[in-house]
Amino acid sequence: MSPQTAKKKSAKKTVSKKATKKSRVVTSTNNVKPKLYGNLVVQLLSLLKDEHDLVANAANFSALLFNSLPNVNWAGFYFLKGDELVLGPFQGNPACVRIPMGQGVCGVAAQQLETIIVPNVHEFPGHIACDVASNSEIVVPLFDGERLLGVLDLDSPLIGRFDDQDAEGLNELATVFVAHEEGLE
Ligand code: SME
Repeated sequence: MSPQTAKKKSAKKTVSKKATKKSRVVTSTNNVKPKLYGNLVVQLLSLLKDEHDLVANAANFSALLFNSLPNVNWAGFYFLKGDELVLGPFQGNPACVRIPMGQGVCGVAAQQLETIIVPNVHEFPGHIACDVASNSEIVVPLFDGERLLGVLDLDSPLIGRFDDQDAEGLNELATVFVAHEEGLE
């Protein structure tokens, strides 16, 4: 057998193995994200245990997200100060410090008090580009009761990286995070 034939044969094998695996795990694939986020809730609770400092907890929370979620190149916070959002703890490249309400994905999510999923940031009018590698984004508003505290922002180099399961998981994590903080201004 020529080396080329051998190569072709083994490539074929890999494909058929993959196909078999895929068809066997169809049901559990849908649970991958909920399971991951469930796991992150447990880890976040353990990180927050006995510590109520907002900056320390936000820093650890962003590090947890950045290192646990696949294909994320920026994860962090903007906190509402006066009428603008100001950069908080994050992981990723340096980012713009101040975002006026209503501007960029963060400012729109803060103004509309809604989670925003942007499958392609290049198609979002007014998107603020902090990292050229970012192609999709999700922004989750943080609430203390009715009051807006800021937003949690995640970027990905993949188009369409974030979906409703991410929105649900990140909102749950955000709720756990805020509930734990004391002395919020
Ligand atoms: N892209 C955001 C700005 C923040 S960075 O992504 C870290 C926006 O449009 O609001």
